[in-house]
Amino acid sequence: MSYDLVVIGTGPGGYVCAIRAAQLGMKVAVVEKRKTHGGTCLNVGCIPSKALLHASELYEEAEHDFANMGIKVGKLQLDLKAMLGHKDEVVESNVKGIDFLFKKNKIDVFQGLGKIVAAGKVEVTPDEGDAQVVEAKNIVIATGSDVANLPGIEIDEKQVVSSTGALDLDKVPEKLIVVGAGVIGLELGSVWRRLGSDVTVVEFLDRILPGMDGEIVKNAQRMFKKQGFDFKLGSKVTGIEKAKKGLKVSIEPAAGGDASELEADVVLVAIGRRPYTDGLGLDGVGVQLDERGRVATDAHFKTNVDGIYAIGDVIAGPMLAHKAEDDGVALAEMLAGQAGHVDYNLVPGVVYTMPEIAVLGKTEEQLKEAGVAYNVGKFPFMANGRAKANRHSDGFVKILADKTTDKVLGVHMIGAGVGELIHETSVLMAFSGSAEDLARTIHAHPTLSEAVKEAALAVDKRPIHI
Ligand code: FAD
Ligand code: NAI
Repeated sequence: MSYDLVVIGTGPGGYVCAIRAAQLGMKVAVVEKRKTHGGTCLNVGCIPSKALLHASELYEEAEHDFANMGIKVGKLQLDLKAMLGHKDEVVESNVKGIDFLFKKNKIDVFQGLGKIVAAGKVEVTPDEGDAQVVEAKNIVIATGSDVANLPGIEIDEKQVVSSTGALDLDKVPEKLIVVGAGVIGLELGSVWRRLGSDVTVVEFLDRILPGMDGEIVKNAQRMFKKQGFDFKLGSKVTGIEKAKKGLKVSIEPAAGGDASELEADVVLVAIGRRPYTDGLGLDGVGVQLDERGRVATDAHFKTNVDGIYAIGDVIAGPMLAHKAEDDGVALAEMLAGQAGHVDYNLVPGVVYTMPEIAVLGKTEEQLKEAGVAYNVGKFPFMANGRAKANRHSDGFVKILADKTTDKVLGVHMIGAGVGELIHETSVLMAFSGSAEDLARTIHAHPTLSEAVKEAALAVDKRPIHI
């Protein structure tokens, strides 16, 4: 049992790294403690959340918008069990897809907890049976992340839930309190709000979605409020008590002040995630962590110990599946002697709410702080024919381009379907394209993508439709 590469963890980082390494001719094995592959993303993250977001979005549209397009559906009924069943089916089919890919690429699979006992040696302890040691020239740590918790608050995944429990509630809570107005809070908050919950979001900062472009966030917050979200910004949850019926949640202003109490049936804690290195034996082999508990690596994903590398959520950078995947590809290529590379300035971020939010590159705030002079081009979906035909005319596209060279530096969008629209600007920016390049590219009519072209035209103050 000796390999060129052993990857610990089969999330998007690990399984993609393993496949790319196998494609490049390496003998590869993976170690996974779960019974299924795909990590957080496929099992309890990206995929199940999008299955519920899609289903709940259709439910809301059927309830509130179908009649406006001449579709009468009678009395709408929610079959929550069937909706959760749809989500479980989607997960099952995706995780089975990874089994198939491992077989196709002749990757050996070891089920069990992986512990690095020395450079080149991984001990695998399966759920059942004896531990065994697998040897490898190189080891990749791709163990991902886990839910971060509030101190002193116990997550029981029934009443006080993390994202995992929030994907599996057996009834729609009347009152849902979400702690944290980040991506998970807004996505899963949207799911349950659409299905009938009264949702209050308690956020420590005085804004939602920290780090995103201020103008986009301001508009997003206004739209979410209109949908029924109640935001308590600049506030923190200091305690959750189980009452006879439901929960009593204590809240204080973040800056200090008088406490107040809210009632809830369910509380979703979504205050971020922590790198996961439990049980990996890193102390024993001397692999260093950084100040935030992430595995410390150099620009080539190498830890301080020869032959041990790390990728994905467990190292620095955005905790996103596509970032983990690209880390995995780049590392496999480097190990094969090629020039693997990830451009961390070009990792798109998408929030899959309705409307969606999609961002890439620099925000206006970042450009101002760096003293970069820029032009702004904006185009509203209200002026896009297809968006109007779809009755999805909320939102806009904003393009930031260098004032002197016209090179596109950032793209920020809010609107239905913008999670797909962002990628033409990814390609543009990967090739250092200008707003003029985009403005002169023919976009099919009628498409939402025309709003992207129009925003590029607006950088030069010559949009056609506004
Ligand atoms: P993970 O996916 O966490 O995989 C790590 C794997 O390692 C796990 O399977 C774990 O069981 C295994 N493991 C850990 N320790 C050991 C060990 N010692 N031995 C053996 N196996 C071990 N990102 C997006 O880009 N888009 C989204 O829409 C999105 N939605 C999300 C929704 C939710 C609710 C959540 C929670 C996350 C979401 N994410 C999303 C984030 C995304 O899931 C992560 O960024 C991604 O899964 C990270 O991949 P990874 O391979 O680094 O780690
Ligand atoms: P997050 O970092 O996006 O948001 C956490 C929020 O909680 C922040 O706004 C923060 O200010 C707030 N917060 C922190 N401590 C708090 C406290 N004590 N009280 C109140 N508010 C507090 O983290 P989230 O939403 O948990 O998501 C975790 C990770 O998963 C993110 O890094 C994200 O990238 C990833 N993810 C990505 C998705 C996507 O790409 N669509 C979807 C879901 C998750």
